[in-house]
Amino acid sequence: MGYVGKRGAQEVLVNGLRRLEYRGYDSAGVAIADGAGGLEVHRAAGPLDNLVAVLPEGATSGTTGMGHTRWATHGPPTDRNAHPHRDGSGRVAVVHNGIIENFAALRAELEAEGVELTSDTDSEVAAHLVARAFDTDPDAGLTAAVRAVVARLEGAFTLVFTHADRPDEIVAARRSSPLVVGVGQGEMFVASDVAAFIDFTRDAVELGQDQIVTLTAEGAVVTDFLGETAKTRPFHVDWDIEAAEKGGHDFFMLKEIEEQPTALADTLRGHLVDGRVVLDEQRLSDQELRDIDKVFVVACGTAYHAGLLAKYAIEHWCRIPVEVEVASEFRYRDPVLDRSTLVVAISQSGETADTLEAVRHARDQKARVLAICNTNGAQIPRESDAVLYTHAGPEVGVAATKTFTAQVIACYLVGLALAQTFGTKYADEVAREYAELESSTVAVQRVLDAVVEPTRELARDLAGSKAVLFLGRHVGFPVALEGALKLKELAYMHAEGFAAGELKHGPIALIEQDLPVVVVMPSPKGRAILHQKLLSNIREIQARGARTIVVAEEGDETVRPFAEHLIEVPAVSTLLQPLVSSVPLQVFAAEVARSRGYDVDKPRNLAKSVTVE
Ligand code: F6R
Repeated sequence: MGYVGKRGAQEVLVNGLRRLEYRGYDSAGVAIADGAGGLEVHRAAGPLDNLVAVLPEGATSGTTGMGHTRWATHGPPTDRNAHPHRDGSGRVAVVHNGIIENFAALRAELEAEGVELTSDTDSEVAAHLVARAFDTDPDAGLTAAVRAVVARLEGAFTLVFTHADRPDEIVAARRSSPLVVGVGQGEMFVASDVAAFIDFTRDAVELGQDQIVTLTAEGAVVTDFLGETAKTRPFHVDWDIEAAEKGGHDFFMLKEIEEQPTALADTLRGHLVDGRVVLDEQRLSDQELRDIDKVFVVACGTAYHAGLLAKYAIEHWCRIPVEVEVASEFRYRDPVLDRSTLVVAISQSGETADTLEAVRHARDQKARVLAICNTNGAQIPRESDAVLYTHAGPEVGVAATKTFTAQVIACYLVGLALAQTFGTKYADEVAREYAELESSTVAVQRVLDAVVEPTRELARDLAGSKAVLFLGRHVGFPVALEGALKLKELAYMHAEGFAAGELKHGPIALIEQDLPVVVVMPSPKGRAILHQKLLSNIREIQARGARTIVVAEEGDETVRPFAEHLIEVPAVSTLLQPLVSSVPLQVFAAEVARSRGYDVDKPRNLAKSVTVE
């Protein structure tokens, strides 16, 4: 968030950051022009209250400033990694959302020039680069310096800058992460979302991609990265404060479902470097990884379902056996582990006790542990030998949605990283698979654009059902399990997921007149044999009176006669099918729950982070 105007900036910023805390809460900080030619910066790890505790009482008289709540991507959540970051002279400050992909090269360049960097973040380089650009030609102004620097940055970077020499100005640039300008009377705001400033103004302007805004108390000038005047979209905010935090939705979960394309893109970003898939942290040598001859994936709940998908990818790409197990069972059955075993632990929170204990057990047996985690600095990544972070951002809704799809993509990245280490895939094949994974963001966006409304309608229609069954085969089986789990936990409805082939071995006895059965179809082209088999399964349940809800590939005409309700998803490669087909099931569960009058974000009896075994 940035502010320039007539009020005490500290007060405005703390108020705004409180509204933004749901976006990140591992550390926070502010930088305020102190009115005496300097910048006053305060930062603290932990929730916003830790920052408030270190802010000077009475504060500065400064009326220009910026603030940030962080969700760590590069560097653990500590005071020194908290934003804002400054250049060496302390005259330029920056806050950043996103990931600067080429930060390592920029950091090396700065260090070669003798610049000392004081944090582990990718963001700090932006402060040094802008200071350098500004000093080269101070008369050109801060905006010109920012423009010169963003041209050199790769990745996702929404940045806000202030300079001690320009105490009446804030400059912000947007690529990827959202940025909105708040237009007040003699004061201006800029923030990740309108919630930060709607206590002060409801007139806003949304910045487009690759735009720069220069704010003074009098107004905002928006240009593109080339300096041309840019088109903007002014709007009036008529949401209440709660709706504003939720992006206009009733629940965070709905917003988080919509954030999945960004979560996938952010998770992939920066993990292909010079043609090689890289992890975020690796304390294992390539030789130690090459010695791996068996993989166990351990996780709980939704993360376990992501783990089931890891098996398909890793076995297919690496030709190495993979077992997937719920973490709470793993260590109690004396699994065979040694230094050539890799245990992949998947956990959004990084604190789940069952998964953490599985990790500890594995390490006691000398197995290597690789964590997939959404929370930088959490216990599980700290106790692991290697880490890949899902950069999905904080998830407020208790039910995992964007962190699930991000975990699936992260599992595939781990599969590719192992394949290149084992030599089972050539660099060009890895690059092709990675590009394929990148296409998931567009495919998931298409699902969101096309299926949300019809799926919600269907959910309202079925909200009175007693039970719902979910069927899938191959990669559609974990999707069926996940669809059922979402419905259980949100709508408190009896829901079961089955491998469709198992139907005839028992579950078919459950089918009765009008029972809704969701079937996740494989592609008729990519997996023709499985497709045929599922068609037979649908016929079997239809013959017994079930209402069939079929998630199928666009253009799959053969399934149409058997689908009472058809949810069409884009045609994608086999491993991406779980991503496109689980999104409608998330929407379905959320809408059934809402229709039944339940709190979608806080389902009964459940906690976001389960720290007991
Ligand atoms: C379901 C859900 C839970 C979690 C599980 C593991 O929507 O959220 O099943 O997936 O408790 O949590 P993490 O990933 O934090 O270890």
